[in-house]
Amino acid sequence: MTAAAERAVPALPALPPEAKAQLDRLRKLYPTERALLLPALHLAQKHWDGWLPEEAILAVAAELGLPPAEVYGVVTFYDLYHERPVGRHRIRVCTNVPCMLRGSAELMAALAETLGVEEGEVTPDGRCSFVHFECLGACEQAPMMMVDDTYHGDLDAAKVKQIVGAIE
Ligand code: FES
Repeated sequence: MTAAAERAVPALPALPPEAKAQLDRLRKLYPTERALLLPALHLAQKHWDGWLPEEAILAVAAELGLPPAEVYGVVTFYDLYHERPVGRHRIRVCTNVPCMLRGSAELMAALAETLGVEEGEVTPDGRCSFVHFECLGACEQAPMMMVDDTYHGDLDAAKVKQIVGAIE
């Protein structure tokens, strides 16, 4: 390969320096690079504004010396990693059977109406996005949803609108 051809090869994306420094601190706690994959993805997601574009996936793969396909497979397996942009506040509505029987479809419709976007879309101001989710482990509060890390239970459309209206 000529020197010119070598220069034409695009560099692999890299983790932002702050994320790399955080990952280096974690390295001491994990036995292998592969074991670091989940925390590395969390760090990358944080630094890529809450989601993992292809650039982020390639950067994590390069950092850990793993095949990009393996990293991508993990991203698509876990619901807590996002392949598309998400809002600053992420809303998850449980639609498993107990919540479904107690009105989760009504909650989803209330969110779409209040936020003016459909499931998986981000509000124009970047404030919120919402998705349906598997059981969130609070079936006794059905129907329920999470806003970021906070559980809200025994919901109806009016309560959903009130909660969403209070999100900054
Ligand atoms: S079914 Fe909704 S939290 Fe379990």
